[in-house]
Amino acid sequence: MDTLTIDIDAGTGYEVMVGPELLQRCGDIAARLVGPRRVAVITDETVEKLYLDPVVRSLTGAGFRVCTFSFLAGEGSKNIGTLSAILEFLAEEGLTRSDCLAALGGGVVGDLAGFAAGCYLRGIRYLQLPTTLLAAVDSSVGGKTAVNLRGGKNMAGLFLQPAAVLCDTGCLATLPPPVLADGLAEAIKTGILSGEELFSLLEGDAAGRLSEIIALSVRFKGDIVKADECEAGPRRILNLGHTVGHAIEKCSGYRITHGRAVAAGIAVIARAAVKLGCCSAVTAARIEKTLLENGLSVTVPFSADELTAAALGDKKRSGEEITLVLPRQIGDCFLWTIAVADLHSVIAAGLEVIR
Ligand code: GLY
Repeated sequence: MDTLTIDIDAGTGYEVMVGPELLQRCGDIAARLVGPRRVAVITDETVEKLYLDPVVRSLTGAGFRVCTFSFLAGEGSKNIGTLSAILEFLAEEGLTRSDCLAALGGGVVGDLAGFAAGCYLRGIRYLQLPTTLLAAVDSSVGGKTAVNLRGGKNMAGLFLQPAAVLCDTGCLATLPPPVLADGLAEAIKTGILSGEELFSLLEGDAAGRLSEIIALSVRFKGDIVKADECEAGPRRILNLGHTVGHAIEKCSGYRITHGRAVAAGIAVIARAAVKLGCCSAVTAARIEKTLLENGLSVTVPFSADELTAAALGDKKRSGEEITLVLPRQIGDCFLWTIAVADLHSVIAAGLEVIR
């Protein structure tokens, strides 16, 4: 496949490139986009072993002066402690405002490095080099950055669009099936929001269609982010499955991964939409079938009480109201704001099996 370039019209505008061998070519591309300068590559210990060497070689070869910071892989590292360690590292290395960061890895790396870029010296530029499907289809695009607090997922963060996203599709071939499935959950979410063209690619065996799935997901997300960069309105639609998903992650002590939790969250909200009379049982069953075909689960090991308590700490709550995203059909979802007192009954409805 050739390299595709998708323009994202948010922030100062940037390119998302999707194609093979982009990590090996990242130096020349980054030099064209941001000019050769100092760059701190932020990664985790799993990705470091796989991809750090070729990335450093490529950047150095293109004239960048490179330093690297690596942390323990996993959601457990997505906290203020790791953020603080990255910021201290950047200061020790003497990075200046004209320098930049490169986030090499999955969603956790991208969120942490983006947050560090946004607050170091009040903001420097950063590149996203996603190596997981989840980062490719969702988290590397749109400028959301965050860490988790004890109170919940992504509770501290900022919006900062990257200078560019280079998505090397070669990284996807070696992803363990559960990590691939995590990304497919976000792609299925985007398919439910965007319509048949993407959703139908995810029915059956999606593995052979990943480049197309990434391109369609990024295009859809780019249009939403253009309309509402800081999630004041329409961007909230991208949170389909996330209120319950984040609650599942939190209840599990983050042992259930983000994609798996979002998948179950989508199934819960689709079943609730059927009970509320706004979605057909056929559509909800099609969504569940697609999640299951892609190695995801549609059941939740927590009660409505547990999930509601966790969800009420979520940042999607606004005072005594919370906004959920409900599907009507594939390609047609809507925002539904309810009193927090009603959340329990919606979640309880979504936990019941549809007969
Ligand atoms: N992951 C949802 C968003 O970026 O808004």
